Amino acid sequence: MKAVGLTRYLSITDPESLRDVDLLRPQPKEGDLLVRVEAISVNPVDTKIRRSKGPEHHEPLPRILGWDAAGVVEATGDEARLFQPGDEVYYSGSIGRPGCNSEYHLVDERIVAKKPASWSMAQSAALPLTAITAYEALFDRMGIAINGQSEGQVILIIGGAGGVGSTAIQIAKLANLRVVATASRAESESWCRRMGADAVIDHSQSMLPQLQQLGYPTVDYILNTSHTEQHWTAMAEAIKPQGHMCGIVDTTELVDLNALKPKSATFSWEFMFTRSLYQTKDMIEQHKLLTQIARWVDAGKIQSTLTESLSPINAANLRTAHAKIESGRMIGKFVLTGWHA
Ligand SMILES: NC(=O)c1ccc[n+]([C@@H]2O[C@H](COP(=O)([O-])OP(=O)(O)OC[C@H]3O[C@@H](n4cnc5c(N)ncnc54)[C@H](OP(=O)(O)O)[C@@H]3O)[C@@H](O)[C@H]2O)c1
Repeated sequence: MKAVGLTRYLSITDPESLRDVDLLRPQPKEGDLLVRVEAISVNPVDTKIRRSKGPEHHEPLPRILGWDAAGVVEATGDEARLFQPGDEVYYSGSIGRPGCNSEYHLVDERIVAKKPASWSMAQSAALPLTAITAYEALFDRMGIAINGQSEGQVILIIGGAGGVGSTAIQIAKLANLRVVATASRAESESWCRRMGADAVIDHSQSMLPQLQQLGYPTVDYILNTSHTEQHWTAMAEAIKPQGHMCGIVDTTELVDLNALKPKSATFSWEFMFTRSLYQTKDMIEQHKLLTQIARWVDAGKIQSTLTESLSPINAANLRTAHAKIESGRMIGKFVLTGWHA
């Protein structure tokens, strides 16, 4: 089968950084599905892993990246119960296993769901990783009420136009929150409004005066989808007493947890691979939440976040997508489709 992989950890400008390779088609066992991948999207995690070791490090076998896919179930392991061959599915997968940048891919059925019926494979592939992250951050980590009981409470979403931010804005609106998103450019600001943000402030400027001007000197929740340390002080100042904030990006320097103590404010991490990486007993929650997201999509409650696409899925097109993500200026999601020109 066709696949795109790396054997060395190189800059994306190096044509060897991602290579077209031929691999044996894997066989599903136990609770795995073998999925014929039709579309994938690219996330910052792909680019981070691609740069995670020095250029001198050689992998004996190609390492396959990619953690967002939509496709068709080709075969199932003997313990798989949720899906049948022919089902159209979408999922992110596990960081502890090979990624989905291959024609056929194995994934544990507990983290897979049927894709939205009303969306294309490309639109569906844009969604799972960011939707799992946003859903878990809001509902599982910060404890926001999914049924709308948090109505009127305010959430600040830092980095609103990126992949995670675009989905988080929409899910927060479904939970009846008032959403203040951040963006630093005219294009990203208007995208945030299109995703449903009630107000947009600029994260390249001091955020507190902008929040005060909006009439929200403090907010109930903060989801920071970007540099945790850069925005830490502003987050600590903007969070309400007993409020809850969530980060999804490793800090590059120590942050002052004491800044939250006077307010008894909570900080949570969200890592959307935790459940699959540690095989937690509630792994099936990701099947359930992706199913819920697909229902919202089919009810017209979630808009596609797909903004850029290329075909086919090959090393040259993946290098273009990685370079775009690495620019830090992505709006929405970048998708690749099909294996033939
Ligand atoms: N923990 C997890 O489970 C998890 C899951 C998904 C992603 N992540 C991580 O979360 C980060 C965001 O992922 P993503 O997919 O949303 O990335 P993305 O789509 O590449 O994000 C791009 C957006 O980031 C915004 N941005 C750039 N610099 C910023 C800054 N200094 N402050 C605030 N916003 C800034 C940009 O907005 P402007 O152009 O308006 O500046 C741009 O729209 C990545 O580091 C990713 O690895 C973690």
